[in-house]
Amino acid sequence: MFSNEFIQEVKDKNDITDVISGYVGLKRSGRISKGLCPFHSEKTPSFTVYSDTASFYCFGCQTGGDVIGFIRKIENLDYAEAIKFLANRAGIPVVEDGRNDGLSQMRLRIREQNREAGRFFYRALYSPAGRQALDYFHSRGLTDETIRRFGLGWSPESWDGLSRHLGGLGYRKEEILAADLGYTSRNGGIIDRFRNRVMFPIIDLQGNVIAFGGRRFTDDIKGGKYVNTGDTLIYKKTNHLFAMNFAKNEKSGELILCEGYMDVIALHQAGFRNAVAALGTAVTQQQARLMAKYVKRVVLSQDGDEAGQRSIARSIPIMKEAGLDVRVLEITGAKDPDEFIKKYGPERFKRLLEGCANDIEYSIMRIEQQYDIGTDDGRLHYLQEVCDFLSSLGTLEQEVYSARIADKLKIEKSAVLSQTQASARRKRFQEQRQQFREMAQSTAGVGNRVNPERSAHLKGAIAEEAFLRLLLTHPELVAKAAGKIRPEEFVTEFDRRVYQQMLAITDEGEEVSVTMLAQQFSEGETAEIVRIVNSGEGRGTDDFDRLIEVIREESARPTPRDAARLSADELLKQMKRLKQKKS
Ligand code: UTP
Ligand code: MN
Repeated sequence: MFSNEFIQEVKDKNDITDVISGYVGLKRSGRISKGLCPFHSEKTPSFTVYSDTASFYCFGCQTGGDVIGFIRKIENLDYAEAIKFLANRAGIPVVEDGRNDGLSQMRLRIREQNREAGRFFYRALYSPAGRQALDYFHSRGLTDETIRRFGLGWSPESWDGLSRHLGGLGYRKEEILAADLGYTSRNGGIIDRFRNRVMFPIIDLQGNVIAFGGRRFTDDIKGGKYVNTGDTLIYKKTNHLFAMNFAKNEKSGELILCEGYMDVIALHQAGFRNAVAALGTAVTQQQARLMAKYVKRVVLSQDGDEAGQRSIARSIPIMKEAGLDVRVLEITGAKDPDEFIKKYGPERFKRLLEGCANDIEYSIMRIEQQYDIGTDDGRLHYLQEVCDFLSSLGTLEQEVYSARIADKLKIEKSAVLSQTQASARRKRFQEQRQQFREMAQSTAGVGNRVNPERSAHLKGAIAEEAFLRLLLTHPELVAKAAGKIRPEEFVTEFDRRVYQQMLAITDEGEEVSVTMLAQQFSEGETAEIVRIVNSGEGRGTDDFDRLIEVIREESARPTPRDAARLSADELLKQMKRLKQKKS
């Protein structure tokens, strides 16, 4: 669909480090930058971006690829869309070939169905059958104006009411399944995803309904409390915030981040139109970045229970990474903001907002709650833990808070500071050890799923990887390699396939690169190629012949299993051949 030149231009004009820093907080050191992986949850950074090979790799979850692969994964796009996305980003005009490719067509159909479904649910809520659902919303204090503004609704008590409605409008079964508005029943028919639930549409920043949450509103409704749309071609729950479409227009410079749909809606109705909710999980990096695009400060307004507090603890570092100033609201006398507003009114909530602690004060308070500082033992443990926490802060902050803690414990500030420094040293050491372990594991190929033969043929595989790395960093050598070593001579099947593809790409007059290879390999295989390209020291071109020799030797070497099968005579012959080669 796109020419290789076009793809190359798109890649060249989108510096990978630059693109990824739009999503991940990166710390640069030399040719590599590190950050917390956006694709799995981690505390120490394993996510690595290599500027020289224009690729990224996560040692924690083994995800990797080039800039196009990154955008595909993080924006949930297909290959062509990721290229268009990056072309737009770099201001390169995209030449459409007139053909409307299947996936964008499907996306459009999903968007239309969601809009239809939203209307359908809203109408149903105000139909006679929706009486009980409407009463439920009213009983929770929502006005009709609020219901309209949020487009709330009711999914009728029927197996396929919506599916039939959509079918009548010309939507095919696969399209309904792709929108996740229905699923396949045992006899092959279609069943509505949402049945007899009050419905909360999730709306993107452009105003499109992209997903739904459906809540049980009486005890006798089966299933979980909420049923949610799964990820679809247009929706990835980790990328969106409920009510951000409204909150983004507020000028307060601040967002209130709640846990639930109902909290957000109650807050909006009470005049706090900058409330949003992460969709049922702790905040993700993408959500934090999205908030940081619009505001400087976020007030965390989680439920008061233990789960809520845990989610605050996990969210704080992610939000700070995104450059946000974090405040934590302490709700007392009610379990969540919704209940608080109902009990005490908006005025009191406003005062709560004004008086809320910053994230550091909050964290220190949380530690304090765990110990009895009236006892020596309690003071000691408190000091240890609080210094551990302080060690993650900047020096200025350490100064300020160590003074406060020293005051509280009636000890010298220097004692708090030196304990903090000891903690910092210990942490650095642990981090280095962790990184060393990851590196060591990845070179040893522990648990290498893509190339399972690797650990049994380590010497050969390492030589092959060095050889492939050499070719990828010096593509002009591929033609020369073609005349010297055949793919069949490779030891491991995966490396052989990579080499084969390199030859094929070169044959077609193209230059080998991760991007070219990525088109022939799966996501996991591409990640492995990226790992190979970036591991080990940069090899000089003079290793060329030596590596070929090692690969040949290793592929001729009988494995222990082969050895058991061969006759004594054959084995002897093999050994002789090997010896001759060596001399
Ligand atoms: P809550 O249980 O606090 O729900 O879950 P809530 O929205 O405040 O509902 P009320 O006040 O009890 O009516 C918080 C959020 O977690 C997600 C939903 O997004 C919910 O709004 N969640 C919760 C689920 O996705 N599934 C569940 O089963 C529960
Ligand atoms: Mn609630």
